[in-house]
Amino acid sequence: MDIENVICDSRTNREIIMNTTKTNKRTWAEPYKIKVVELLKMTTREEREQAIREAGYNTFLTRSKDVYIDLLTDSGTAAMSDRQWAGMMLGDEAYAGSENFYHLEAVVREYYGYEYLVPTHQGRGAENLMSRILIKSGDHIPGNMYFTTTRLHQELAGGTFVDVIVDEAHDPENTFPFKGNVDIGKLDKLVQRVGADKVPYISLEGNVNMAGGQPFSMENLKALHVYCREHDIPIMLDATRTIENAWFIHEREDGYAEKSVRQILREICDLTDGCTMSAKKDALVNIGGFFACNDEAVYRQAQNLVVVYEGLHTYGGLAGRDMEAMAQGIREAVMEEHQAARIGQVQYLGEKLIAAGIPIVMPIGSHAIFIDAKRFLPHVDQDDYPAQALAAELYVESGIRTMERGNVSAGRDPVTGNNRRPPLELVRLTIPRRVYTQAHMDVVVDSVCDVHQRRDSIGGLKMVYEPDYLRFFQARFEPIA
Ligand code: F0G
Repeated sequence: MDIENVICDSRTNREIIMNTTKTNKRTWAEPYKIKVVELLKMTTREEREQAIREAGYNTFLTRSKDVYIDLLTDSGTAAMSDRQWAGMMLGDEAYAGSENFYHLEAVVREYYGYEYLVPTHQGRGAENLMSRILIKSGDHIPGNMYFTTTRLHQELAGGTFVDVIVDEAHDPENTFPFKGNVDIGKLDKLVQRVGADKVPYISLEGNVNMAGGQPFSMENLKALHVYCREHDIPIMLDATRTIENAWFIHEREDGYAEKSVRQILREICDLTDGCTMSAKKDALVNIGGFFACNDEAVYRQAQNLVVVYEGLHTYGGLAGRDMEAMAQGIREAVMEEHQAARIGQVQYLGEKLIAAGIPIVMPIGSHAIFIDAKRFLPHVDQDDYPAQALAAELYVESGIRTMERGNVSAGRDPVTGNNRRPPLELVRLTIPRRVYTQAHMDVVVDSVCDVHQRRDSIGGLKMVYEPDYLRFFQARFEPIA
């Protein structure tokens, strides 16, 4: 089948695809060559049926050795470069004052622009610090869609998350190119209702994960900045995938084609007051994160609190070598050729799935393809967890490990106790950075198509074990008879 013709059927799709290649007519071929490989093992269907049963139909509970192509997450799964590995040998493993901390601090200042840095073991460590410092009981924290760990830390600190993302983000078929934008009208409604003093900050995520990896625009951020300055509300960035957000601004937004990803990243950060960061994504490391800000008083509190939860303020739960690898990873992540290949590979997979008639979230995002389980399995009710069932089925089909991002991930409403039944019921095929080849992507397409062919025979699941927090990680299921 000719992909070009199929995807160009709709004008909007064509525009999006044109836009993503606006400044780069070359192929997205990998800007690196392979020096070390890890061998993969293919299992039999019987082995996989047994493995998923033992895992309670939850891909988080399967063992990595039983997985063929691992698309569970792009978190901590990147292949590090030779320079990063070389940096590991420069680890200064002193308890206090490691040289690698000062190096990382200098790199974060240079690329992100924040004055103060507190390293943490990963993103949620930084979220814990920030939530404890900034949120008081009874506060409301607006955000451009929730993220699981972020919202939980807000709730644990006594706050309530309020979704202020644009409506387009909740519609998987809407092709608006900046579905990560904040709806400033929704934000203003909240501020009018509860008062600005009950809004400690707005949580702004780059390339919104739960919306399908969708960016905000610089225009939207500038407007948000004006609004927040007027109301004295800080903007705290979830910088986890903000370099990838910068790439989309470079590709899609008028006036940014000539600016580098590095310049755009800095422009984003300069419009915000601080950030939490899971370095396991953009920054190409297997572990690490940080909290950064410009307010000295907030920094002092974070520096004090980090010794309670993570470790001394010059290592924050990381080895010196991890900080060195992170510093180098940030430098590599802002390279245009890296982003062109990284996001180009995700686009390649997405375009092939669209051509094959698989319902996915549009536009294709940065870090993953999100299959719309509501349209893939329309006969399965949302409380029978269609996305969970589909993720299990994809694993059984070919050993591809994916993740549910729907009713299980959304959890229960703390007031009613009912499942939240979010508008988006998705299976995430997440692409690790610099790990898999185009041939792997082709295998993924074939496997998804094979499951799609027999979709009518796939039923829902019932939850038989439900943990209290972040239930999607450890919940167990059984097929509905
Ligand atoms: N914020 C965003 C947007 C994330 O995607 C994640 C993690 C975090 C914060 C928390 O960071 O895992 O380092 O503690 N996302 C992973 C994922 C788990 O698979 O999407 P962490």
